[in-house]
Amino acid sequence: MTASANDPVSRRRTFAIISHPDAGKTTLTEKLLLFGGAIQLAGAVKAKRNAQQTRSDWMSIERERGISVVTSVMTFEYGGCVFNLLDTPGHEDFSEDTYRTLSAVDAAVMVIDAAKGIEARTRKLFEVCRLRDIPIVTFINKLDREARDPFDLLNEIEKTLALDATPITWPIGSGRSFAGTYRFATKTVRRIDEDAELLQTSGLKDPLFDTLLPSGADAWREEAMLAEEGNKPFDLAAFREGHLTPVFFGSALRNFGVRDLIDAMAEYAPSPRAQEADKRLVEAKEPKMTGFVFKIQANMDPNHRDRIAFMRVCSGRLTRGMKAKLIRTGKNIPINAPQFFFARDRSIADEAYAGDVVGLPNHGQLRIGDTLTEGEEIVFRGVPSFAPEILRRILIGDAMKAKKLREALQQLAEEGVVQVFTPHDGSGAIVGVVGALQLDVLATRLDGEYGLQTRYEQPRFTVCRWIASDEPAKLKSFIDSNGSSIADDLDGAPVFMSSSAFQLNYDAERNPAITFSDVKDYQ
Ligand code: G4P
Repeated sequence: MTASANDPVSRRRTFAIISHPDAGKTTLTEKLLLFGGAIQLAGAVKAKRNAQQTRSDWMSIERERGISVVTSVMTFEYGGCVFNLLDTPGHEDFSEDTYRTLSAVDAAVMVIDAAKGIEARTRKLFEVCRLRDIPIVTFINKLDREARDPFDLLNEIEKTLALDATPITWPIGSGRSFAGTYRFATKTVRRIDEDAELLQTSGLKDPLFDTLLPSGADAWREEAMLAEEGNKPFDLAAFREGHLTPVFFGSALRNFGVRDLIDAMAEYAPSPRAQEADKRLVEAKEPKMTGFVFKIQANMDPNHRDRIAFMRVCSGRLTRGMKAKLIRTGKNIPINAPQFFFARDRSIADEAYAGDVVGLPNHGQLRIGDTLTEGEEIVFRGVPSFAPEILRRILIGDAMKAKKLREALQQLAEEGVVQVFTPHDGSGAIVGVVGALQLDVLATRLDGEYGLQTRYEQPRFTVCRWIASDEPAKLKSFIDSNGSSIADDLDGAPVFMSSSAFQLNYDAERNPAITFSDVKDYQ
């Protein structure tokens, strides 16, 4: 493994793990943290996972935000690199949060259960990574159990994800006979219970394999030879462009193969990439600090409306006490108490560089999608908002509290808990979510934090799309003639709501000058 160059940006690796539930993401995260020496956090990951398994537990963990804030970003050092591992929520209903988090990483590890192959959620998350050409390292996990044929698994990656897969290591047996892995390029072997030791072989003919696989060494040799000859060689440029994935086999539970994986992240994964802003591309090594907020974690203390905004630093150096310009409002805000999630603690470091994520405590000034700079008027792209799949009108028993409800919804929408739409016809607010669990979280938080008892009603709309047009007059006339189906989102952008996807398509066809979009960049 190579230690990267000494400058702080080249040393950074900012990544997330994508997987289907149960494939082993939590177990792998723990093992990665062990390598980085962040041992206490490993326990926290476990606690969080257990708590996330049921809805009520999820709520209780929300109350114990301390843990989830710490585990939102896990920073550790290994092999000369600083790794920022960004956690994504386990539950599918919070997929919006996951998509936003993926906008802040430079690479991803895809964990696949060796007995199951590519599963639905892995595929979906992979597609999000592909949209941004995020390079992916694959870890095929649970080789200590009965596994599918490795050729089959590689084929599946190539076919279902249209991604070239190059095995860097090859499993020696599986299930009860799993003895370790063989690395093609170096002809080295790692044995399952001696992960730290690399054995040099003379190649596939080496007698070591007869010892490792007393029955079936020759069949294995043939298979490994086929794999070596048949697969595309590893191509760093194709990997960095998101077209090829290096594949590792292992067992997160047995802490096997994780070392090779993290070494690969250090060696192959890119250092912080340039980020696209509205006016130009911002290079990570530029001297001036820039960054964008991709996640808000609110109300650590319900008595104060404090929030932590998670900002990815895109360039320059962020230091405690500096001032940064919040582009949306034009105001300078002091960065007095940035939280750094370094190693074991939350606030050891005093500075952060491109690729790092800092927590910025604030009282509501910062929103998802916000750009902060040292003055330059640019806005980062790519923290998306997706058209909700579930729409509900939100009703409150006590009419005196309508204003309070409006304010609460505004705050919670700024945090990204739900989307809020204000209908033009003056009827009550409509909330939109991607997963039903978000509705439960909203109701619980409105009650617990704002003292508002609310209920939901199904409006006559089931789908909505952001509308825009190159011809302002046509947009205005469309809005005027469809008043009762139009609402404004949090930023005042118009949204068209419809009773069905069919009806929506019909309306879209009849109004070719209007674009109906199911994704919107923040801002
Ligand atoms: P997730 O975060 O992706 O949902 O997966 P998680 O790590 O929680 O792993 C899901 C289950 O798979 C856990 O078992 C975990 O112990 C097991 N597991 C993870 N990696 C491996 C592996 O390499 N080999 C084997 N054999 N099992 C693995 P569980 O019984 O659901 O939970 P637990 O009681 O063991 O914690």
